[in-house]
Amino acid sequence: MSSPIENIGLNEAAGRIRQGDLVAFPTETVYGLGANALDAAAVRKIFELKGRPETSPLIVHVSGVEMARRYVSEWPAQAEELARRYWPGPLTLVLPKSAEIPDIVTAGLPTVGIRVPAHEIALQLIEAAGVPVAAPSANRFTGLSPTTAEHVRQAFEGAVPVLDGGPARVGIESTVVSLAGAKMVLLRPGMISFGEIEQAAAGKGPHPSPGMHARHYSPRTPLILVDSPRDLPDRRGAYVWWRRAGLAPRSVRMPGDAPGYAARLYSVLHELDRENWPWIAVEKPPEKPAWLGIWDRLRRAAAVTAGPL
Ligand code: TXA
Ligand code: MG
Repeated sequence: MSSPIENIGLNEAAGRIRQGDLVAFPTETVYGLGANALDAAAVRKIFELKGRPETSPLIVHVSGVEMARRYVSEWPAQAEELARRYWPGPLTLVLPKSAEIPDIVTAGLPTVGIRVPAHEIALQLIEAAGVPVAAPSANRFTGLSPTTAEHVRQAFEGAVPVLDGGPARVGIESTVVSLAGAKMVLLRPGMISFGEIEQAAAGKGPHPSPGMHARHYSPRTPLILVDSPRDLPDRRGAYVWWRRAGLAPRSVRMPGDAPGYAARLYSVLHELDRENWPWIAVEKPPEKPAWLGIWDRLRRAAAVTAGPL
């Protein structure tokens, strides 16, 4: 490594959050770039550092259900059910916001995305800071999300201190579900499937469109999705496969199960991106519901909008 990771301790990190500064921290999905969600000036620094347009709302991270309820103005039975079942965990609930959440956090929307991350360091940070922590993924706008502290350091070159919590266990961003309208709506697929969520919420009780830029979660290297190794463009690039190996100078075999695949995905893409191949070809993953979140991220990385799932 060219320079040491700028790690800091928990108390220093919590102090920075309280002072209105930024801290990158681990969650079970990806690393977040955090600020005090109640401090509009602190949250503005997130948008500035990421280069993210202020039209893209942030997720507010809290340490438990009680804290979540303080920052929403409605807590329907479905929210209670889903929170008890999936929190701490990779599920974000979008609900009408309370007045305490500044407009910049929600990009002016009347709703807020909120979740309890399943990572001890994230929970300790929120508890020690004593405030909810607004955080997008800790990458530059449209870049690949970070699943290690080293990825964060590479993205921001030391401009922000990082709490190191090891590699992210889930590996892709949380499932985002809106409970703000008459009907529950999936806004972003993730490793908790919408089918499972609908089932869990069944029998319990219009939605803003999320900042879904088609090109998002992208490596710098052009990425294509291929049906088989026969579709590789030439013999010069990197091939990411799970079923059929192919002739390429660089080849990465992925796990054949969705959780294992998700946990590795961004790390593999970060690594191949740094190696400067002319292309990255990814063998299409299985067309099964458990792979929906993975399909979503691969399609965005390849900047294609259509697909089987
Ligand atoms: O796993 C995750 O969700 C990670 C970790 C750090 O928690 N965070 C993350 O944040 O992926 P970000 O900013 O990269 O993505 C947030 C997503 C976006 O799709 C955004 O549009 C949606 O959540 N979102 C947030 N608040 C919303 C709201 N009020 N209404 C609709 N969508 C919202
Ligand atoms: Mg992101």
